[in-house]
Amino acid sequence: MSTATLAQPAHPQTESMPTKSNPGKKSRSDHPLAERSTSRGVPQQPVSAGAIPPGVDRIVLTGFMGSGKTSTGGLLAQRLGWRFLDLDHEIEARHHRTVPQIFSESGEPYFRHLESAALASLLGQRHVVIALGGGAPEELGNRLLLEQTPRTKVIYLAASFDTLVSRCAAQAADPSAAARPNLADLALAQRRYRQRCPHYERIAAHTIQTAERTLVQVAEAIFAALLTAAPAAHHSSQ
Ligand code: S3P
Repeated sequence: MSTATLAQPAHPQTESMPTKSNPGKKSRSDHPLAERSTSRGVPQQPVSAGAIPPGVDRIVLTGFMGSGKTSTGGLLAQRLGWRFLDLDHEIEARHHRTVPQIFSESGEPYFRHLESAALASLLGQRHVVIALGGGAPEELGNRLLLEQTPRTKVIYLAASFDTLVSRCAAQAADPSAAARPNLADLALAQRRYRQRCPHYERIAAHTIQTAERTLVQVAEAIFAALLTAAPAAHHSSQ
């Protein structure tokens, strides 16, 4: 099992962390949990609790930038035999522009519009793990959609603002890392963090603290939460 924790950006485990191979977007090693992932890049580490949570067709990961949504999502999907879908990647693939390009050329409100449309489409799929962008839950429509999509469990990957910023800073040191437009102004980012945390908590069925946990431990905590909370009468959604 990896000893890398989400709070230790310099750990060599980073090298094997997932990166997204997306020609429209530079890969980002979201260290220690890479935020962009392909199943190809997910570390081959044991996650003991890989059973499919009863009554669940979609697992949606939410949390601020740097919370590990993509790397955790890639690992969960791998263990479940489900598909991993990254909302930012989906937007970029559909519109042939990177997220920073969309922000700079068309503005954040336009990005949010594309994000909502992409989210609605991804939520139409079954047996998927979806990583949201950090700002998606700011939109009321997105929160309602997540709440009202049946057999969908939202998991909040939580960490302190300082922890998240240091993870993002470690990622930004990687020249191939994708830029995060909403981290350019740290004071504003902190205000966004404070505004968003209650939304993350409210939409989530479970909050998982990620500081000091390895990628595998975070994934195991998610499985444990989902399986513990599952109604005893249902043993499988298959
Ligand atoms: C954003 C988060 C990013 C991306 C965009 C805006 C935000 O996703 O959607 O840069 O406002 O928090 P990640 O949370 O995956 O970095």
